[in-house]
Amino acid sequence: MAALSEALARTAPLYDRVSRVIPALEWPVFAGDVDAILTLKRERNAVILAHNYQTPEIFHCVADLVGDSLALARMATQTDADIIVLAGVHFMAETAKLLNPSKTVLIPDLGAGCSLAESITPADVRLIRARHPGVPVVTYVNTSAAVKAESDICCTSGNARAVVESLGVDRVIMIPDEYLARNVAAETRVEIIAWKGHCEVHERFSADEVRQLREDHPGITVLAHPECPPDVVAAADFAGSTAVMSDYVRLRQPARVVLLTECSMSDNVAVQHPGVEFIRPCNLCPHMKRITLKNIRQALEENRHEVTIDPVVAAPARRAVERMLAL
Ligand code: 13P
Ligand code: SF4
Repeated sequence: MAALSEALARTAPLYDRVSRVIPALEWPVFAGDVDAILTLKRERNAVILAHNYQTPEIFHCVADLVGDSLALARMATQTDADIIVLAGVHFMAETAKLLNPSKTVLIPDLGAGCSLAESITPADVRLIRARHPGVPVVTYVNTSAAVKAESDICCTSGNARAVVESLGVDRVIMIPDEYLARNVAAETRVEIIAWKGHCEVHERFSADEVRQLREDHPGITVLAHPECPPDVVAAADFAGSTAVMSDYVRLRQPARVVLLTECSMSDNVAVQHPGVEFIRPCNLCPHMKRITLKNIRQALEENRHEVTIDPVVAAPARRAVERMLAL
């Protein structure tokens, strides 16, 4: 009991940050783990990189660096910590490991996958290349290292169009997200050959839902992630990566907004913008939600689960990621 009251006292300033989205009654459930994680990070010279879809007690209370996939990849190259704990999904941890081969990279739950990463294999990439000889392959970072290894360059939702146009060609193969590919195709003259993968979270939004939102909440600003179907993106006011959506709210301060993306995103952005009203139909990512304070603490205590990548795959996969980062 004494330990909990000490943890509550030490974490009180952190609770203040998230008090708009976490009821005071719930904080004692989190305080002990938050307190322990802060100590473990110091003892082990570890940093926690957290994606924008992590829950607020992770995102605002224990993470050192937060952002979208592109920012996390960049930050992974800049840390001098010995250990990186990736609070996100497996492909993000693999990307951090590709960029930091000599560091320990931990993912708190090995089951934190991604429906896009699951949708394509290295053999599929070889097949699609054989069908379109000479056409470069642009691979979304939401893929395994083995798929990245078959690619010319990676992209994220934050730089997809710039990557496609950087290649100076008329046609590219863009895998595996069909909707991201079609959304980019709508903005560029480069012809895009797409694969048929979908994000199980974003494919559930519909243009009818957007129409209903506008009817129910006049004047609402609708922001969509580019993994949403093209008719949803067309019906939205603006589409961008999770970081770009967050920047939009910060810079424009819309009176009322809806973020068509994963649920924790609104919580995390709402914490920083008390003057903005968030309408919250959202879809949960079951993979992102596998990461909890409990398993982050366990990752640091037990050094698990360490991410390893076959060196034969790692070298070409790293080249594809580094080529993107060099842009
Ligand atoms: P961002 O790169 O926009 O953060 O997207 C990652 C992701 O998994 C979206 O579903
Ligand atoms: Fe993958 Fe979609 Fe979850 Fe992002 S939200 S990690 S794309 S399943």
